[in-house]
Amino acid sequence: MPQPSSPAARTALVVMAHHRADSLTAHTARRTVSRLEDAGFRVDLLDLHAEGFDPRMNVADQPEWGDREKPYSDEVRAHMRRLLDADVVVAVFPVYWQSVPALLKGWIDRVWNYGFAYGRSKPRLAGKRILWLGLAGATSEDPMTEGMRALLETNLSEGIAYYCGFSQSTVALLPDAEERPQSIDADGNLLVGEAVAGAEREAYYGEFDRRAEKAVVEFLAVEAAPAAV
Ligand SMILES: Cc1cc2nc3c(=O)[nH]c(=O)nc-3n(C[C@H](O)[C@H](O)[C@H](O)COP(=O)(O)O)c2cc1C
Repeated sequence: MPQPSSPAARTALVVMAHHRADSLTAHTARRTVSRLEDAGFRVDLLDLHAEGFDPRMNVADQPEWGDREKPYSDEVRAHMRRLLDADVVVAVFPVYWQSVPALLKGWIDRVWNYGFAYGRSKPRLAGKRILWLGLAGATSEDPMTEGMRALLETNLSEGIAYYCGFSQSTVALLPDAEERPQSIDADGNLLVGEAVAGAEREAYYGEFDRRAEKAVVEFLAVEAAPAAV
């Protein structure tokens, strides 16, 4: 039930990019859906792998790149509709090679197509807001993590969301997404720590869930805040 003070009738598109339903990413996406519903959003959960989305760009979606009025495939038009219907988009994904996985990248490549997401004086996605919730295997103490965060911010916010007219893009990187902490030492050796177990494991994932939820709550709070004058 939407709460009285919630943004009733607003729609959130949660895009989940993972192949395993029992992954931490899928678990985080499910919790994100619940959090958004608690905040009064109608949620459209797009599980890219379960829906069989093919991330490969193809001729049907790009018959002629330079034509803004080109017809898109039925599949992509259905995804464009879901994107247009959303007030906010939350992408939940594992960080792969300091970027998004191919499944999510392919969704952006195919659906955020020229003439739809960009290439118009008033982009059709203008004013929408997006949260990128990226789970990373690196630990929070790993010196690599800060650079990864900066890289994702540049790529996802500047390179994609703001380029397509989104009014807000937030990258929330969630490190420590693996139970065996891994890092590279100064000599380039891979260090793999002990897996957490028992009560420690409960606490570990409880803390992970809290960090993920905090990211969603803070993202929603920006919208609730009065506009600056
Ligand atoms: C192909 C691949 C590339 C990865 N690249 C990175 C990376 O660049 N940085 C990082 O911190 N973790 C990286 N990881 C670790 C994943 O981010 C991590 O395993 C995942 O977030 C754990 O969530 P899951 O259990 O839902 O898959 C990579 C994992 C795979 C399989």
